Amino acid sequence: MTWQQCAAGWRDRESRSRSGLDGRGFHGFQEETGGGGGSEKVACGLAVDSPRVAQPAAVHSFRYSGKELFCENVSLSALAKRHGTPLYVYSQATLSDHFTKLDQALAPVPHLVCFAMKSNSNLGVIRTLAGLGSGFDTVSAGEIQRVIAAGGDPRRCVFAGVGKTEEEIAFGLRNDIYSFNVESEAELRRISRVALKLKKIAPVAVRVNPNIDAGTHAKITTGTYENKFGIAFEEIEGVYARAARLPNLRLRGLQMHIGSQLTDVTPFRKAVEKVVPLVERLNRKHGFDFFSIGGGIGIVYNPALASGDPAWWHTAAGRKVLTPERYAATLIPLLQPLGLKILLEPGRFITGNAGALLTRVEFIKKTGRKNFVIVDAAMNDLIRPAFYDSYHEIVPLVKKSGATVSSDVVGPICESGDYFAKDRPLPKVGEGDFLALLSAGAYGAVMGSTYNSRPLAAEVLVNGSRSAVVRERQPVEEIWRNEKTAPWQTARPGRGKSGR
Ligand SMILES: Cc1ncc(COP(=O)(O)O)c(C=O)c1O
Repeated sequence: MTWQQCAAGWRDRESRSRSGLDGRGFHGFQEETGGGGGSEKVACGLAVDSPRVAQPAAVHSFRYSGKELFCENVSLSALAKRHGTPLYVYSQATLSDHFTKLDQALAPVPHLVCFAMKSNSNLGVIRTLAGLGSGFDTVSAGEIQRVIAAGGDPRRCVFAGVGKTEEEIAFGLRNDIYSFNVESEAELRRISRVALKLKKIAPVAVRVNPNIDAGTHAKITTGTYENKFGIAFEEIEGVYARAARLPNLRLRGLQMHIGSQLTDVTPFRKAVEKVVPLVERLNRKHGFDFFSIGGGIGIVYNPALASGDPAWWHTAAGRKVLTPERYAATLIPLLQPLGLKILLEPGRFITGNAGALLTRVEFIKKTGRKNFVIVDAAMNDLIRPAFYDSYHEIVPLVKKSGATVSSDVVGPICESGDYFAKDRPLPKVGEGDFLALLSAGAYGAVMGSTYNSRPLAAEVLVNGSRSAVVRERQPVEEIWRNEKTAPWQTARPGRGKSGR
């Protein structure tokens, strides 16, 4: 059965299961039930009787039960043994919970949550969110194709990015996407040209750069004049006036996004306060449908595991975290008077804490000064620590007692940047032990590469007591499948003239 056939089946059934009329699950993957030893395969699209799993009150579904780390009701050691490592594991309950929390917080205004699939574009993840009514923030024709492949609706897609090609624009137009989020005047002219050729009207929103510092890491700050994104606040009205004279464009809204992993509501508030009067003026002239305030809501990376316990949210640290409720309570009063549909583009908030990367300890290497824990995952599987100096909490899949050891957790790649933690107090682990790198659901697998000819990791989606592989581990030959030697390289190297 193909993905499209599965998705069609889901589409028919999802409204029933969402409305609670049908308490049974429908699935699109070869599925395994039970967290322990045996696995029961269930064919795509079949209804499966399963225990109802209560929605967790906590912020994610990774927790110890006894000595074993679980994702929902599935043992992570069992998954690591069954599927091998490195292995990404996602919690469907957490994905749904995060989407729903944000969606509900925005309920007082007409809105569309467009999941930023650059954070995690696995078909199983997209399917989960499409089933909840999510739209999608996409950045390439490939991402729109993924939405379609997962049974999502391209008419709920916005298409962002500074370098859209003519082919990508045509693809978006043919699939009636909701809006192009435009980053330059040259792009507006290109969209107009392509739309004219295809006899289509292109819905567009220009991305305003409000020049507000999000106060986050330099590589994920996007809303200042140091960044390549959007058009300067002061130039926007002139750009819209010129765009209104271009053929086949519908000026549908305005968009902004100031950065990622924002843990304080203040930069969001400042940006919205600054841009709302501009939206009002433009709306009066051009008759908008929407204002998109982008994504960027931050998540808890430290302490990741503890934040899965509802009690943690009542601690001093927990009370400081930016919640959807606080975000909405601050921004809705500013946005409501516009009377427009509000679009949101959250990525990390939905996927970040919903995923973990499982890895196996290959060696312990002690030097004079360091205890290196060498694992089988590497920077090609999860580049965030090397790229953004990011922190991922690391915990063993089977709890260890005893004193901690200050350790560097490193991968096997020939780069000194290939590390996951430095001087981290970790339980004493040894060869063959499994570890989980938590909060790895966003900007993890999607940024994977085959550097050092390492296959892309497998990915598993968990739903209550069930689990399914939603991406097979890449066979190693696939890495060079599209490569070949040049025609003049006839002799097989290293064999000499005798051709032995
Ligand atoms: C335009 C735009 N929207 C949304 C996002 C998603 O950000 P986040 O994952 O922090 O929510 C990004 C991230 O880079 C972005 O560039």
